[in-house]
Amino acid sequence: MTKRIALVTGGMGGIGTAVCKRLAEAGHAVAANCLPGYPKKDEWLAQMRREGYADVHAAEGDVADFASAGAMVRRIEAELGPVDILVNNAGIIRDSVMKKMSPEDWLAVINTNLNSAWYVTKHVIEGMSERGWGRVVNMSSVNGQKGQFGQTNYSAAKAGLHGFAKALAQEVIRKGVTVNSVSPGYVETDMVKAIRPDVLDKLVASIPIGRLAKPAEIAALVGFLASDEAGYITGANIAINGGMYMV
Ligand code: CAA
Ligand code: NAP
Repeated sequence: MTKRIALVTGGMGGIGTAVCKRLAEAGHAVAANCLPGYPKKDEWLAQMRREGYADVHAAEGDVADFASAGAMVRRIEAELGPVDILVNNAGIIRDSVMKKMSPEDWLAVINTNLNSAWYVTKHVIEGMSERGWGRVVNMSSVNGQKGQFGQTNYSAAKAGLHGFAKALAQEVIRKGVTVNSVSPGYVETDMVKAIRPDVLDKLVASIPIGRLAKPAEIAALVGFLASDEAGYITGANIAINGGMYMV
């Protein structure tokens, strides 16, 4: 096993935390991104240490801002080394039907969920290509694959993430860099807890497996795509949704 440097955006959220742990368990040094001034950063790091994750570090930066993303990558390079594995995981929701959705809610979701992936990847992709090895994994969504009532912004951003992956994959595969997306169904995190309970009950009832996904289940897939063994997988969008949408 070669030790790599991994960057997980939104790394202190529900899925992000599980991905950080998984990559650390694989022997990598992990930079967990959070927004600048995130009030729970120290508490999160202390929890990681308590759980025995010594090589997990905080990386502050607003990934929806190109300059902030670049400054964060440069700090990681100086403190840990060049980024070999990038998980574009940061995301938000601003759900409402289109007639009620504001331009601000459209832009916030496109910026945070889609533009962020380009902004961060732009700062690491050349280095990966020059070193001849790299992994980029985008956290897309079942709702980018099937579309979701109330999510014109989010569904567009998540579908866009995979278009980005397919294009970039072709540019870098001969340099040993793979670019893939994973598309989870509904996962037990704060994001899903924000859905109105009556709406959530109906959603869960519609999932063939009959339950939400656990963050660790998503992290296991990301961990595999980030490994050496996954070198022949690129431009793929892997569904992990309990049977909710079969493509
Ligand atoms: N398909 C068709 N019609 C629907 C519908 C659906 N999926 N959902 C609701 N409707 C209908 C309702 O039955 C209702 O009809 P009537 O007016 O005839 O009664 C009408 O649309 C309005 O529905 P709401 O009362 O729900 O409207 P609202 O404005 O109060 O709320 C909403 C709209 C915020 C979008 C709400 O419906 C909602 O939260 N939906 C869930 C959206 C969702 O799945 N978000 C996922 C967030 S987590 C995530 O995104 C992670 C991931 O990647 C999986
Ligand atoms: P979460 O717990 O809310 O995590 C999202 C993380 O992204 C949070 O830590 C958040 O920080 C961070 N973030 C938001 N904007 C940021 C920015 N501009 N810069 C840096 N970090 C930022 O939700 P989650 O469920 O783990 O979601 C992780 C990813 O999975 C998202 O892309 C989401 O769309 C996707 N996804 C989730 C589900 C699901 O059902 N949960 C399903 C499919 C895909 P703050 O908390 O400080 O805002």
